[in-house]
Amino acid sequence: MPIKILMVCLGNICRSPLAEGILASKLPSDKFLVDSAGTGSWHIGRAPDDRSIATAKKNGLNIANQQGRQFQQSDFDAFDYIFVMDNHNYNDVIHLAQNETQKQKVQLILDAIFPNENVDVPDPYYGVANGFDMVYEMLDEACEVIAQRLITKHS
Ligand code: 4NP
Repeated sequence: MPIKILMVCLGNICRSPLAEGILASKLPSDKFLVDSAGTGSWHIGRAPDDRSIATAKKNGLNIANQQGRQFQQSDFDAFDYIFVMDNHNYNDVIHLAQNETQKQKVQLILDAIFPNENVDVPDPYYGVANGFDMVYEMLDEACEVIAQRLITKHS
């Protein structure tokens, strides 16, 4: 059974698809499975935002075949680790948890590089033009740390 990691944002079209692609690229696929979901339901079944696809492509990653889906309560048991992009996502996901074990699976993704500072990955959807590049850089740094930790812990 692979170790399963879920990336969560609001829409599952901008940040978490990038996070999924980046972390998956840093982990051996025979041991780890990375997926993503949104707390909202607007973009179910859709491909990631064109700007996320383009930013990933620029960095050698193909995320175009991902399909948006909504976070669901069963994800708490289906996944070993749940990384959320911002404090809003954290509260929404924690609200759905039914016990401490489930709550403990949920972490802010930027805690990997800014521990205990509650730093958000900003939502680039309505943001500045280079917002997607900024998001990519933050996620790449955090995922590098997370990947090394996961590989060490599960080898
Ligand atoms: P994401 O960005 O949470 O990074 O996927 C968003 C994309 C779409 C919307 C909100 C956030 N939206 O409201 O449609």
